[in-house]
Amino acid sequence: MEMIKFKIAQLLAAGLDGISEQEIVVMLEYPKDAALGDLSLPCFKLSKQLRKSPPQIAAELKDALEAQPVGQEVIDRIETVSGYLNLFLKQSYLAGHVVPSILSAGERYGAKDIGAGKTVVIDFSSPNIAKPFHVGHLRSTVIGNALYQIHSFLGYQCIGVNHLGDWGTQFGKLIIAYRWWGDERRLEEGAIDELLRLYVKFHEEVEATPELEDEARACFVKMEQGDADVLALWQRFVDISLAEFQKIYDLLGVEFDYFTGESFYNDKMGPVVQELKDKQLLEEDEGAWLVRLDAYQISPALMLKQDGSTLYHTRDVTAALYRKQTYSFDKALYVTDYAQSLHFAQWFKVVELMGYEWAKEELIHVPFGRVSLEGMSLSTRKGNVVKLEDLLEQTIKKVEEIIEEKNPRLENKDEVARQVGVGAVIFNDLSANRIKDIVFSWNEALSFEGETGPYAQYCYARTCSVLRKAGADPAADPASVDSPILAGQFAPSMLQHPAEIKVLKQLALFPERVGQAAIKLEPSVVTRYLIDLAHAFNRFYHDCPILVEDSALRTARLSLVKCVQITLGNGFRLIGLQAPEEM
Ligand code: ARG
Repeated sequence: MEMIKFKIAQLLAAGLDGISEQEIVVMLEYPKDAALGDLSLPCFKLSKQLRKSPPQIAAELKDALEAQPVGQEVIDRIETVSGYLNLFLKQSYLAGHVVPSILSAGERYGAKDIGAGKTVVIDFSSPNIAKPFHVGHLRSTVIGNALYQIHSFLGYQCIGVNHLGDWGTQFGKLIIAYRWWGDERRLEEGAIDELLRLYVKFHEEVEATPELEDEARACFVKMEQGDADVLALWQRFVDISLAEFQKIYDLLGVEFDYFTGESFYNDKMGPVVQELKDKQLLEEDEGAWLVRLDAYQISPALMLKQDGSTLYHTRDVTAALYRKQTYSFDKALYVTDYAQSLHFAQWFKVVELMGYEWAKEELIHVPFGRVSLEGMSLSTRKGNVVKLEDLLEQTIKKVEEIIEEKNPRLENKDEVARQVGVGAVIFNDLSANRIKDIVFSWNEALSFEGETGPYAQYCYARTCSVLRKAGADPAADPASVDSPILAGQFAPSMLQHPAEIKVLKQLALFPERVGQAAIKLEPSVVTRYLIDLAHAFNRFYHDCPILVEDSALRTARLSLVKCVQITLGNGFRLIGLQAPEEM
């Protein structure tokens, strides 16, 4: 549709003095109601500049368009309604343009090179060592991964960084807890569970024995000073946790370019703190050091504690400078829960005050809402966390039961159950605007009828099964000459049914939606698009028999199915969803 939009903007701009194509592209709208056209131009904004009334502008544009031969090729009819110019596209143009462009682009349909030469660093997932990976971190992982895939698809060079929470006073706490109450046998057997038990135990004990806090702080100071014994224990905890996290990343199919956690910056913070001092940004406050941000209505950013140890802020400022220098990024995204908004606002400002102007535009917090599990909130301190691994495993089990019931003869049941179970969780996380709090409910996420991952995947599997029945290999490259689909000539004029036209229009929107998802940093634009496409396809599937006698009609419909398969598949890859061919 983007191409069509450009074409129309070009036609319209020719009839408008002093108004560029680009301005028109931005103004063109997709009316919600199909009775108002496929594209609509509200003429109100143009009114002032052209010194004419909106209905007058609309009427003149209509005449101008109708007079152009190219206009007649693209546009079926034009209506003017109270200052709007409503355009109805020619079916033959739509089909003749959309289908061949998807079939020839294949896996690259929707891809662009607008990001060529630009680098985006995406800081995502970033769980905390020695705590189980919980559903909160899943959202960061899934959103971050989608942003990574979307930007790559648009030609950006992406660098995925896992900023592990592996440094800070909490490790002092853990080490102290281990020394008091640690159980070697349990650590060997239960690994991460034992670490969680120790963490919870520390917080219980500290109520009666507040001195424990001091011990923990002192222990972290030792860590920062390089105490070998303490660091050896810390390294063990890190290794245990990483092995645990890796299982989840494997299950989700998510990869990182770097696992440079907070500890990575331990030897890099000194010079940064010195720079802050030299630039007279640090102020002493009862022995601690902070940057005042009152002038910006932001509370101060603490950079050094009284005992000289560093904080989350210190490490983030250092990491940003390091990344700018190492990757010379054009954008750095930080994907976390919105509860951290203040933290990012504070240290982004600090970097800017250090004289790094780029911080203003290039450091971007990508906040998202909380996740709760069927109404239950989740907190690590009290220990009532739902481990992500358990959640995924339970989901997969439930999918196995569903498959057993629906399609007991399916060959690779385990594999499919895994793809669908994980997909349901991923899709659920991406289905609403990221800033919204979401509830995970098994019933909803696993419904094959709702707006879910399984629904979209089922629709994909259906396209594959139609192609198989037609004798085509669903995995085959559509552009290959011996593809049985295109063996017969594709005749655009065959696709006349309203359900077919709906699918064509939906397909045409994909590239634009991918672009919007990147601009808004909002993967839900893609998930919602996929649901709309799946709905349109299902309507078509029910209304239009595909494997008909008439070979021209059959070729045309199969081509359409292939286009849906390609586009769904491309969209799935952008959000990290697997595409089983059968389910
Ligand atoms: N480890 C942090 C947490 O779990 C998230 C880190 C996000 N990234 C960053 N550069 N601060 O809350």
